[in-house]
Parts: sequence; C-alpha cells; structure tokens
Amino acid sequence: RAFNVYITRSDMPESGVNLLRNKCNVKVWQEPSPVPREEFLKAVYGINGIFCSLTDTIDKELLDAAGPSLKVVATISVGHDHIDVPECKKRGIKIGYTPNVLTDATAELTLALLLSTSRRLPEAQHEAKTGGWVSWAPTWMTGPGLAGSTVGIVGFGRIAQAVARRVKAFNTSQILYFNRSKRPEADEIGAIKVEFDELLVKSDFVICCAALVPATKEIFNKAAFDKMKNTAIFINTSRGGTVDQNALIEALKTGNIRAAGLDVTTPEPLPLDSPLFKLKNCVILPHIGSASIETRNIMSELTANNILAALSNSEMPAEL
Ligand code: GLV
Ligand code: GLV
Repeated sequence: RAFNVYITRSDMPESGVNLLRNKCNVKVWQEPSPVPREEFLKAVYGINGIFCSLTDTIDKELLDAAGPSLKVVATISVGHDHIDVPECKKRGIKIGYTPNVLTDATAELTLALLLSTSRRLPEAQHEAKTGGWVSWAPTWMTGPGLAGSTVGIVGFGRIAQAVARRVKAFNTSQILYFNRSKRPEADEIGAIKVEFDELLVKSDFVICCAALVPATKEIFNKAAFDKMKNTAIFINTSRGGTVDQNALIEALKTGNIRAAGLDVTTPEPLPLDSPLFKLKNCVILPHIGSASIETRNIMSELTANNILAALSNSEMPAEL
C-alpha cells in the first residue's frame, strides 16, 4: 500500500472505493456531504491522489496544501470547471474525469427535463394532487409539442450529440447547433451549424449543453433571452454559470420566453427563497443529469481507475 488517496465524501459509490481500498491507503471524509473547505485543506497534506466531485474546488491553495506528493486529481464528473486545469498541468499533476460513460444518462435526463417543462408535468401533477383536476378540459395544461419544432442545441460535444439523436426521434422539423468548430458528426445526425443569434431567433426549444469556460460564461444573458421567441423553452443541463440567472428570472416573469427547465443553477443547491422556485413556468432539478444507478457506479470505477493508473505511471483511462 504505497499510495495515499483522499476521497472527499463518505458516500461515493462503493464500486470505485473498493478498487482503491485494495491497492492504497484510503482516507475518506466521514460525512455523506462535501468535505468542508478547511477540513479539505488539512486532510490533503502528503496525499498522492484525490478522488473528488464537482462540489470540491481544486485551486492553487488546495494544491499548495497537498504539497509535492500530489500526483493525480480525479473527479467523478465530466465537467471540470471546478479544477484549475492549467495550474495542475504546470505542476505535473494529472487530471482524471468521466467522459463518455455518462453521455446516455445525461442525454436521457435532458429529454426528460425538456418534456417535463414543455408538457408541464410537475405543474400538472401538483394540480392533480391538490384538487385542480376538475374535469378534462380542452385548453388546460397545454404546452408546445416537439413534433414539427425547431430545436437549437448550444455546444455540440458528446452529450449534445446524444441529445440531438434522441430529439430527432420526436419528428422535429430541424435541429440547429452552435459550436465554435464544425462537428463532423453533425452531418450524419442532420444538425445544422448556425451562429448563436440565429439559433436563438429560430429555435422553439433552446438546449444548453456547452461546457462552462470563459467563452460560455453567461452567454444566456438578457440580450440572448430578448432574441428568443416569446414561445421558446430554455433547457440547461450543463452548468448554471452559462446563464445570467437574474436575466432568466426576468424573462420568465415577463413572458419574454415561455418556460425553462434547469438541472443546474447558481448557486447549487439553489436557496429555497430563490424567485425561480416561485415561477410555475420553471422546472428545477437538483443537478441529477448523470444520476442513473449504473452510470454512477461506472463513474466511480472510472475515477478510481484514473487514480490507480496515474499512480502506477500507466495510461489513464480518461485523462483530461
Ligand atoms: C455533472 O455535471 C458532470 O459534470 O459530470
Ligand atoms: C462533455 O461536455 C460531453 O459532452 O461529454
């Protein structure tokens, strides 16, 4: 047991934790909740590998606290905006993440959220449970259908493409995407590359699947919501930071767009007094994009295998 590994919460799926326990000295934050920052800074000194999640900030301060023993940081997420990647690279610290294995689960959740928002499922269930269901009614609880619609997807990575393939099965009329570079997969899917503004103007459904990087920070701002159709539905399953949330709240309140479905917010968890929770035309999920049972187990194994590979100087299965 030559290596010391730190795991930032007690409820990481066992499949991965057990892989590490077989080969390393494993230290685990004892609670099923994110390790508090002060604890984290203290606990990582002398550690060789960190198994973390998107709730843990890996910055200079944390890397300094770990010291030169740290060889690898592996996150149980595909997103890595919580990690100072250039700083890790500068120090020769390897970074592991979990692409591919969560693509289907996250695309499934994106479709679920899209349909829940457009067809108003949480609102309808609430009505059914609280006496609002008086009779079948011809215009009650109606929302726009996907068939015949134009869907715009912002970002066109693995998850976005998986969303596009699924959306197509709903007989949409057009799939547009915006991405810095043209993606070769788009032709086969039948998705058309357009400028961001054109996508906003033309789409009935706007889905954000773009990673959070400086270029995508708050791209969904007031100007963006102003360009969208008044009937548009906005879905975000990437990161809350791609949205100017106050501008979104205003757009939802004034009817500038019809509705929004969010799996990600700023901050997370979203405080109970957030105006977003008061809006009937906003469906909010607690960041569960990849939360299929199988997927979370595989993500945990991949995170562990990233750490084991890096510590034994072999090729990591998913190195950033
Ligand atoms: C979840 O948001 C992830 O990045 O895996
Ligand atoms: C990452 O952003 C992905 O699409 O897998």
